[in-house]
Amino acid sequence: MNMKGFFNVADAEELSLRRMKRVVVEGHDIALFFDGGRAFAVQNDCPHQHFSMLHEGELKDCRITCPMHGWTFDLQTGRATNGSGRLKRYAVKVADGSVWVGGRMAEET
Ligand code: FES
Repeated sequence: MNMKGFFNVADAEELSLRRMKRVVVEGHDIALFFDGGRAFAVQNDCPHQHFSMLHEGELKDCRITCPMHGWTFDLQTGRATNGSGRLKRYAVKVADGSVWVGGRMAEET
């Protein structure tokens, strides 16, 4: 697997157990999640009042609920499902026992 442009940010087993983690990649504050057998990387900054607390939110069914005021986002699309706005998503791969995040944003879908 070509890892050019990707950064090793976590141990895959550790993330699968902790399920969420805050990492910084090239100055980007990123919330990393593991749910439903998949890893997700999104901006940690909540679009509501810009608290960078999504990494401490409630994770369920590939959705993250901000611990501050309860806005909820679908990690697969980044779109708000309670509230408004959209989270930037980052490319993420799991390989060789590690989680890798791309410095560039994943393409919008
Ligand atoms: S800052 Fe996230 S819901 Fe208000």
